[in-house]
This record gives sequence, structure tokens and C-alpha cells, in this order.
Amino acid sequence: MDVPLRFATADDLDGIWDVFRLGFGGKEADRAEWNDGLEADRALVSIGDQGEVAAASHIRRFDQWFGGRLVPLAGFSPVAVLPQYRGRGLGKAVTAGQYPDLRERGEVISGLFPASVELYRSVGFELAGSYVQRRIPAALFSTLRAGEPVSIRRGTVDDVAAVHRCYERLASRTDGAVTRTPGWWARRLRPDLADTNLFVVDHPSEPGEVYGYAIYRHGKAAPPYDYSVVVAEVQASDADALRALWRVVGSSGSQAPHVEVIGPADDILFLLLGGADPVAVRSEIRWMVRLIDAPGAVAARGWNPTASGRVHLAVRDEHAPWNDGRWILELEAGEGRLRPGGDGTVELGIGALSCWWSGYASAQALAMAGHLRCADPTALATLTGLGASSPPTLVDFY
Ligand SMILES: CC(C)(COP(=O)(O)OP(=O)(O)OC[C@H]1O[C@@H](n2cnc3c(N)ncnc32)[C@H](O)[C@@H]1OP(=O)(O)O)[C@@H](O)C(=O)NCCC(=O)NCCS
Repeated sequence: MDVPLRFATADDLDGIWDVFRLGFGGKEADRAEWNDGLEADRALVSIGDQGEVAAASHIRRFDQWFGGRLVPLAGFSPVAVLPQYRGRGLGKAVTAGQYPDLRERGEVISGLFPASVELYRSVGFELAGSYVQRRIPAALFSTLRAGEPVSIRRGTVDDVAAVHRCYERLASRTDGAVTRTPGWWARRLRPDLADTNLFVVDHPSEPGEVYGYAIYRHGKAAPPYDYSVVVAEVQASDADALRALWRVVGSSGSQAPHVEVIGPADDILFLLLGGADPVAVRSEIRWMVRLIDAPGAVAARGWNPTASGRVHLAVRDEHAPWNDGRWILELEAGEGRLRPGGDGTVELGIGALSCWWSGYASAQALAMAGHLRCADPTALATLTGLGASSPPTLVDFY
């Protein structure tokens, strides 16, 4: 279906708000905050029969760490269609319609948290990572012991900027972590620390810097308990500090028997905790990624510096035709390159390539799921060996 689309202007903001309000159940009181977070020229709209905004997609720009390098990311946030226009292809149209602009801006990958995997898979997105909300018994944290003594103090508003800097230093080691603006940070750590509990470990050699931090707030609990501990984030520069901070987070178990944590399916927290598996998963979703500019994305991320090889690909991409065709993928010394040519040994859609690029699934797993075809076992093994070895982690829901 050919849907006329255009980028929004400030005059469309009320119409866009209406689409998002009906899509996500927003209240009138939220309007100003929503509108403040929108950039009109990053919203693509479709106009309905009555001249109203019938559908809209909006992009939030981030940078996302992959292989120790920052990759420009266009985050779809959000996408919605007025109820009376749903089921006619508008959701797909306002999503795919953004791709040429993203490419021009150098946003070589895009991502989103899907309400419908099918919708976004049909326009080239594929799974990239998990986002799991768990309720872990506080008692499990009491088993944590740091090897070396770690001094933890209560954080104050004067530590907030140092916490931001600590995150920026540590994020590069986590594939999938995104850079945060001050506005984005405020959702996780309010600058005035209202209703927020901050604990920090001072940096041993850099005055004014923190070495690790734990942020949590008190949430609801079922009677007779008073509250639950809702973790916003725990980060530390070494394992002793990490263990000590998690122990503090779990230390309120006499009143707060549960610690609520958001993390990936294979959270490294499970490499620390000593308990068996009494983990309650409250919700589990998966975020998705799509390569907007395949050669740009291959060149932008860092790769395993010890893996090198070459594989011929035949990529299908109906919605970003500049990616469609035969490519030779070459990785060497941590650098990646995709150049036109080759004999198309591995046949895959842009979604499968995006998924492999992210590290979420190996080429072998994608072949098993029917997302990739390859008659040459050596080429399949090479592509499997070149990919990242574990899925990326993203805890910033956008
Ligand atoms: C999700 C939403 C954007 C879809 O818009 P739409 O215009 O109806 O979507 P399309 O017509 O382009 O549908 C394309 C595909 O998406 C999938 N899809 C659409 N609505 C779906 C739903 N409610 N549940 C599951 N899959 C859905 C289907 O696979 C569909 O393909 P099909 O028509 O061949 O079956 C719309 O229902 C909406 O605004 N919902 C509320 C807000 C929301 O959830 N936004 C998405 C946030 S990520």
C-alpha cells in the first residue's frame, strides 16, 4: 500500500499527542511532558480523511555501544495509529517511511521495544536482546561477600554528576548500553534524589569520582510487608564493589522481602548470587534492531579482534533497497567491512543480518529458525564464528 507521509511541524504536535494518547492510554495531565520530549521534525505522520494526524512514528536519537564503539542509533519511540485507521498498513508505513531519513542522518542502526514483533519483523527488524523484570528474594543477596573490604556511603545530590560519569566510563564494556542525556538520566536518578536511595563507592585514586553506585526506590509490597526494593541501577568498576553494592540493595529483607530488578535474560547477577532458582519473572520482552545502512553498521561496531574471515552474502531488503543485493563481509583485527559483490553463498533477510550483527543469535541458530539459508557448512560456520558471542544488554526502555 502506498501511504502519503510527511515529516511533522510544530502545528502537528496536538494531533500527534492525540494519536499517542489513544495508543498508550496517556492522560491529559501528561500532555506537556510528552510534547516536551518530542522533536517535530523527527516525527513522520500520515494524515487521515478528516485532515487529522492518523498515524505517527517518532525517533529518539541515541548512541549504542557495540564492541567498544558507539554506533548511532535511531530509537523508534513511539509508533501509533488512531484506532479507526488500524489494520490498513499505516503502522508499517510510518515505520519504514523513516528509513531514508535515518540513512541520510548517519543513523546506521535503528531499534525499538516492540508491541508486536510481527509488525516490525515485517519491515526488517529482528530480535536483539531481552528485557526481563524480575522479583528476586532479598535473602539471596545476603550470601554475597566481597573479597576485599569495600566502603560504601550514602550518596548525595553532589554525587549525581559523578554517577553519570561513572556510567559513561563503564557503559563501553556492555554491548547494547546507550548514552544518556541529562533528561534521560533524570528518569533513573532524579537530580534532587527525591524518593531515591543512592549508595556510592568512592573512587580509590580519583577524588570526586565514584567507582560504583546503587540506585533504588521503595515500591509497593503485599501486606504484611512495608515495601519492595525497586532497583534503578547497580554498576561498579570491579567485582568486589559490585558484590558489596548488591548486598546493600538486598539488606532490607526484614521489611522488603523482594528486590525488583530489570536486566537481560542471562543477567550477570546470576553469576554472583549463590541461591538456586527461586527467581520470579514478572515480565519478559525482547527489543529489536534493524540495520538501516548495512555497510555503515558493519563498519561502525567493534568486532572480536581475534576473529577474521570472509563470507559472501545475498541480502534481501524490501524496505531499504540500498541494502539489498550481494555483499562480501570481511572481518579482520576488530574491523568490519561490507563491500558489494560475491556469489551470495549465505541468503538472508535484513532482519537476520541485523540479529546476527547484534550478537543475539548465531548464524547457525538463524539457519535453524529458517531466517537464513546456506548450503555451504564452512560458510555457515565462518559466519557463526565471526559474530559476537552473547546478546547485547539494554536496560533503557525508550
Ligand atoms: C500497533 C499499531 C501501531 C499497529 O498499527 P496498524 O496500522 O494497525 O498496523 P499495520 O496495519 O501496519 O499492521 C502490520 C502488521 O502488524 C501486526 N499487527 C498489527 N496490529 C497488531 C496487534 N494489535 N497485535 C499483533 N500484531 C499486530 C500484524 O502482523 C500486521 O500484519 P497483517 O495486517 O498482515 O496481519 C496500532 O495497533 C497501535 O497504534 N496500537 C497502540 C499503540 C502501540 O501499541 N504502538 C506500538 C508500540 S511499539
